[in-house]
Amino acid sequence: MTAQSLHRYPAVRLSDRLAAAAAYVDTQREIIDVGTDHALLPCYLYQRGARRLTASDINAGPLLAAKENIQKYTDRPESIRLMQTDGLIGADFAEEIIIAGMGGELIVKILSDFALEEKDVHLILQPMSRCEIAVKYLYSVGYGIADRTVVREGGHEYIIISAYRTGIKKEPSDTFCYTAGATDEGFLRHKADGLFKAAAACGHTDPVRAEKLSAIAEEIMSILSDGENI
Ligand SMILES: C[S@@+](CC[C@H](N)C(=O)[O-])C[C@H]1O[C@@H](n2cnc3c(N)ncnc32)[C@H](O)[C@@H]1O
Repeated sequence: MTAQSLHRYPAVRLSDRLAAAAAYVDTQREIIDVGTDHALLPCYLYQRGARRLTASDINAGPLLAAKENIQKYTDRPESIRLMQTDGLIGADFAEEIIIAGMGGELIVKILSDFALEEKDVHLILQPMSRCEIAVKYLYSVGYGIADRTVVREGGHEYIIISAYRTGIKKEPSDTFCYTAGATDEGFLRHKADGLFKAAAACGHTDPVRAEKLSAIAEEIMSILSDGENI
């Protein structure tokens, strides 16, 4: 008999993408899942021993789904605090911050509004798009990427980033920002392909930009032969 089967609630099954994000979370600390939607991630963390959990969303609908899942997957309705808020407004208590399934621009807006530069938190970010904007921002406010995981699921490539405060502000290379320091071959090829396509699409209207994007793509491809991404 597993420890799980001793409980009355069923085990949460997470997508590989969310499971990779969960793997970075320190369950002993104060956790918030921003833009939680169904709250499956906090329910999963609860089942793994986390007890200081908040699931937040800007919209009321997702929080209703979250409430149902908390009832289904945990033993107490109040096991996970629910918050309807924009980003991290009112969440100064947070120590472990997960933001998954949002674009890079929105992630940056949420972290800037939170005044990340003045905080010392652990970030687990999974940008759905424009990861380069999020990475550039992190380094500009004295945060750095400690680790990352690439997940392939449903024909998509996802990157999950774990970042901490370093106190050192830096301007990483474009190549690093676009790849978040990953060395995964499939991910790098996918990124380079996207950049070559974007360069081709703007080649006539903005040749300078096209050249820049192509140069970044070439540099990403060179990581594959060098094996280093710094
Ligand atoms: C695509 S879902 C991602 C759900 C989950 N985090 C995941 O990765 O599967 C995006 C969620 O973010 C919420 N959201 C969008 N903008 C937000 C904001 N500014 N603050 C908080 N939540 C937001 C949406 O309501 C939605 O539930």
